[in-house]
Amino acid sequence: MDALELLHNRRSVPADQLDDPAPTDADLDAILRAGVAAADHDGLQPWRFLIIRGEARASLGEVFAQALRARAPESDDAAVAKQRAKPSRSPLVLAVAARVDPDNERVPAIEQVLSAGAALNQMQLAANALGYGAIWLTGPNAHDGQVAEALGLDFDDRLVGFLYLGTPRTEQPPRERPDPARFVTEWTGARAYESL
Ligand SMILES: Cc1cc2nc3c(=O)[nH]c(=O)nc-3n(C[C@H](O)[C@H](O)[C@H](O)COP(=O)(O)O)c2cc1C
Repeated sequence: MDALELLHNRRSVPADQLDDPAPTDADLDAILRAGVAAADHDGLQPWRFLIIRGEARASLGEVFAQALRARAPESDDAAVAKQRAKPSRSPLVLAVAARVDPDNERVPAIEQVLSAGAALNQMQLAANALGYGAIWLTGPNAHDGQVAEALGLDFDDRLVGFLYLGTPRTEQPPRERPDPARFVTEWTGARAYESL
């Protein structure tokens, strides 16, 4: 697949439209290799990739359900059941976290988190290149200490998201993207300094 065509036309696939087969072990290896090729200031390799598949998805669903009960005790059974079902929507989930060293003097924490986000994005694109569908999801679970602890993350680690992976049941329609000119300014110098 042409790289630019992939970058311009990529689409996410809703998690509940991702079916078996999940990426094969060889394809998963290729996906993870794309992750560790992410931009990485000072070579810190600040990444953690957790593979969640099979029965482990139900366990993660239980973690999500308990986390909701703790976050919002007033939640009704339907809301809790919805959380419980989330990871099992797709055959494979990658939880992607930044392993943050908050004391690094050259690479601030935000840059370490950005590298983990770049790794997740690389893995989504690699999955697409291999013919799989994927979607990057966060929601409150990605920012919940109880979820982080259940995943075995350290105190300073930051979950950047869950990458749901599988084979798309349906083809996503193309999405019109904005004109990049809306976000672009030709910078020609700092006016404040020019007027000095
Ligand atoms: C950091 C991050 C977190 C996201 N979290 C969610 C989420 O929790 N729920 C959701 O519906 N979409 C979420 N998205 C958006 C989807 O991944 C996806 O980009 C969106 O559905 C648009 O589809 P497209 O990627 O085909 O344009 C998130 C995207 C990013 C970058």
